[in-house]
Amino acid sequence: MAIDDQISLFNLPTPNEASSPPDFDPEQIPTSAKVPIPAGTYQTMAQMHAHCSRCFRCDLGHSRTNAVISRGSVNAPIMIVGEGPGQNEDEQGKPFVGKSGQLLDKILQSVNLSIEEDVFICNVVKCRPPENRTPTTDEAEACKGYLLEQIRIVDPKIILLTGATALKGLLGVKQGITKVRGQWYEQGDRLYMPIFHPAYLLRNQSRERGQPKWLMWQDIQAVRAKLDEIRDR
Ligand code: URA
Repeated sequence: MAIDDQISLFNLPTPNEASSPPDFDPEQIPTSAKVPIPAGTYQTMAQMHAHCSRCFRCDLGHSRTNAVISRGSVNAPIMIVGEGPGQNEDEQGKPFVGKSGQLLDKILQSVNLSIEEDVFICNVVKCRPPENRTPTTDEAEACKGYLLEQIRIVDPKIILLTGATALKGLLGVKQGITKVRGQWYEQGDRLYMPIFHPAYLLRNQSRERGQPKWLMWQDIQAVRAKLDEIRDR
């Protein structure tokens, strides 16, 4: 039986119909932050990548080498959201591949979380802010539709927000990360935990009890335990 016939048996849209909402013109997306990105716009990260690579919803598009979309698994139960690409990420087109990324990978490996299977890593903004400055609220807002699409597609159970930009960008929480790190926030059917940004840990090397690295160790163990609990349900 042809694929279209098989799908119509269940009254689902055919792949072509499903590829974009009917009133949505993909050509408009990159040009203006005022044009929202409707949920359901993308079926794959590759489609989103293609758009982000020619996106000018904010000025960061003018200085990027590569749009930085993701690494890890699109089927992962855990999503990690960073702030924005740095120089290494901009050059390689992958998030968290510099010093911060190496530390992040070690943190994940310390509790046996596999980057290939258990996590999906992305950022609030997909293009590098000049001089590695913090993305502005407008830049984060212009890019938010892409992040929401990534969450919709991956559908993670747990989202880790590394640093204040991710916390504010996704949950709208403006509190300092030191205050709220390690706390679970429940929204819809997802759990969110703010954690220290790995770059902050690189600047605070002490492993003593109560110091950022020690606190991160507590947090990542709590994440591991929560994942095991969810899987056992
Ligand atoms: N810092 C981030 O927040 N994201 C990256 O991809 C790299 C460094």
